[in-house]
Amino acid sequence: MSSLLQGVNLYLIGMMGAGKTTVGHLLAKQLGYAFVDTDDIIAQAAKKSINEIFAEAGEVGFRQIESDVLAQVCAHTKLTVATGGGIVLQRENWGYLHHGLIVWLDVPIDLLYERLAEDTTRPLLQDIDPKGKLRSLLEQRTPLYKQADLRIPVNATETPEQIADKIMQAIPSVLKPTTVNS
Ligand code: S3P
Repeated sequence: MSSLLQGVNLYLIGMMGAGKTTVGHLLAKQLGYAFVDTDDIIAQAAKKSINEIFAEAGEVGFRQIESDVLAQVCAHTKLTVATGGGIVLQRENWGYLHHGLIVWLDVPIDLLYERLAEDTTRPLLQDIDPKGKLRSLLEQRTPLYKQADLRIPVNATETPEQIADKIMQAIPSVLKPTTVNS
């Protein structure tokens, strides 16, 4: 599989709580790739939490840093990349994401909410109606997530290992011609 991928990066997209980081770690191990998480890179570079960055620079400032980080990440190969849930919002980001294979972890709203109900690290969910906010973000973003190369539906009974296996099995069906021939 890793030789078939020719070092092409895997980008995991999807909502907060979709499991991009957990599944990304497993995929990286199976592919012999390194794992990176764009939120971690942003927080480490800024020496601030994502909450602090949102508080100080606003969502607009955060999105700019996120795009800068993605541009740097996509210059590397053999990476599995867990992205922030809103990375799909900036049109320019798609130019970077399409350097690799884009995998959407499609998780139902109830399961997302169950996982995020107690979360305090997602600034966009610090809302009087966090479930309503999550639902409206999901509705707004679904057409964008659909632009992924691969959609992986996830249900509550599946383990991260099973989800990673499902992705590994699905990858050959969507390898881009340049990936196979180069
Ligand atoms: C965001 C998702 C977060 C983080 C920030 C904004 C979003 O990442 O980038 O809080 O807009 O959905 P995760 O998807 O890793 O939680």
